[in-house]
This record gives sequence, C-alpha cells and structure tokens, in this order.
Amino acid sequence: MNVIRIAIAGFGGVGRATANLLLARRARYRQVYGADLRLVAVCGSRSGLADSAGLEAGRLDALEPGLTGPAFIDASGANILIEAGPSDFRTGGPGLAYIRSALSAGRDAIVISKGALVHSGPELRALARSSGAMLKLSGAAAAALPTIDLLEHSLKGCEVLEIEGILNATTNYLLDAMMNQNLGFEDALARAQASGFAEADPRNDTEGWDTASKLILIANFGLDADLTMDDLVVEGIQSIAAHDLETWRKQRLVPKLVGSLIRTDDATRAAVGVRTYPATDPLAHVSGKNKAIRITTDAMGETIAIGSGTEPLATAAAALKDLEHILTARAVRPTGVSGGKE
Ligand code: HSE
Repeated sequence: MNVIRIAIAGFGGVGRATANLLLARRARYRQVYGADLRLVAVCGSRSGLADSAGLEAGRLDALEPGLTGPAFIDASGANILIEAGPSDFRTGGPGLAYIRSALSAGRDAIVISKGALVHSGPELRALARSSGAMLKLSGAAAAALPTIDLLEHSLKGCEVLEIEGILNATTNYLLDAMMNQNLGFEDALARAQASGFAEADPRNDTEGWDTASKLILIANFGLDADLTMDDLVVEGIQSIAAHDLETWRKQRLVPKLVGSLIRTDDATRAAVGVRTYPATDPLAHVSGKNKAIRITTDAMGETIAIGSGTEPLATAAAALKDLEHILTARAVRPTGVSGGKE
C-alpha cells in the first residue's frame, strides 16, 4: 500500500477541521486509492484533533515543538503539505516560506490561505512545474464554491470570455441585511460581528480585498493569467449610503459585491465593486452567506455555480478534494514523490 505522509502548517479552525476530516476519511483513501494517508506533522497547537490515533506513532513527538517554516517542512518528511496558516497578500508571509520550501523539494502543496498565492502565484506555479510537484488551491479560491475546477474540468477547451463572482460570504450577508432589514452599513456590520459571522477587523472582507484575492487566484491559476493586486480597481461596500439603498429598492435592483473579469484577445481586465442585478438575474437570488460564480464561454454559453458552505468543514472538504485530485494524478506514477511503497 502506498504510504502518503501529510504535514499541516497552521492549526487554527480550518487546519483542525482539515486534520479531523483527513483522519475520518482514512478508510476511504485506503479503499478508493489503495493509499495509507498518515498525518505526520502539525505546525501549531495540536489541541482539537478528534482522533490522534491516526497520527503516525512517534513522528509528531519527534518534531521539536515550535519548529516552523522550512525547518518544519524538512523535519516532517511529508510528501504533501497542507498550508492552512495565515498569509498576507502584501508580503506573502508567513505562509509563503512553507509553500516555497515544500514545492522546491518536490513535495505537493495544497494551499488554503490566499495571501502567498496572491503575492507570488506565478513564481509558485513555475516552481511547482520545474520540480514536478503539484500545487492545488481550491480551499483558497472560494473553497466550497467550485471555481478553478470548473475552468480546468467542466469547461475544458472553451475560451472564457467573462467571469462574475460573488466570492465573499460576509459582504453578501451584509448587503442582504442592508437591503432587506433597512440597516446602514455600520449597523449591519455590528449585528454580523455580534453573531460571530463578521471578523473583528472586517476590512479585508468589506473593502473588497478578499474578493479581489479570490479573483486573482481564479484568473492566475484557472486561466494562466498574471494579475496582481495593482491591476485591479478594488471597491468595497463600506461607502454605500442610505440613498443608494433607497434607489436600488425603488428600481427593484439587487446589489452584490462582484469580482469581475473580462478577457479579450490581448488583455484580461479585472475589478471588484458593487453591481446591481434585476430580480430576473440568477445572481440576484444568491442570498445570505452564499457565494456564486458565473462563467461565460465561447462555446458553452453561461455556467453558474452557487455554493453555501462557509464553515471550516466546507473549506477542509475543498482542500481534501484537492488531495483526491493529487491521489488520482499520482496513481499513474506511484513511485513519484507522493507515493512510497512500504
Ligand atoms: N471571510 C471570507 C468570506 C471567508 O466571508 O467569504 C474567507 O475567505
């Protein structure tokens, strides 16, 4: 049986959910892929693991507590890194060091945090190609909502002409509350924070940066573009005024924060901002914490996907979908970096 060793860097809510789902699915991996998946190293506190019996005996304890970055990756002996820690799109850190180190050693990487990929996507893509490692990022590119998968598989061979994405659940929820409960931005935000849905510092969501990050990842990894944050005009929802809401209600229009991308023969233009839709448009019905993407292609017309999963479990499941893509791809060459017979 192929033994596959997994290391997880970053052990917050999503890292823990990923570890627990991985351990819960070990029997499935054995049965479907003939693979013995072992969680060999976790960077961060190990509290919250539901089934520590699934850990490879001795390996975790052999790791020096507090080991981080490339030293952690090397010491883990992992075939696959799951990167679930924080990373900042302005610097790439701290996640970037883990991903670089894994890919340059030929280890596959499943990346959940967006910052490093936004900051250094083309470099990491090239690094993976040159080392023969696989780089997957469903968990970062809107997670439970399929985005890159649609481009790589469902719409394969088509020219993508346009993408519109409601990619951020927090702002979609806030806009709904502002329109339907007659709340201003600050009041809607305060309620969402009180219910634990919006972050204490919500600016990454409300100012459009999270949407922009996801759009860049979809473009750069799904369409082979080379966009950076500097290429986008990014507007959020924080400046929406009472009179805007009133006008939209009167005109029966539904506002959405949208990441949009248009491709022509010589350019890819992308932006983030509020767009309004008539009730007849399917995107007008993407309510609450849901997300959606509409992709227009030359040959298959419009494809729309709507996703409701926003919990850590949904993000973990998106990352482990990537793991199964890797297992499938590696099965054709079981002596590759992901598979070692034992
Ligand atoms: N805060 C994000 C959202 C989830 O509201 O969609 C992480 O990307």
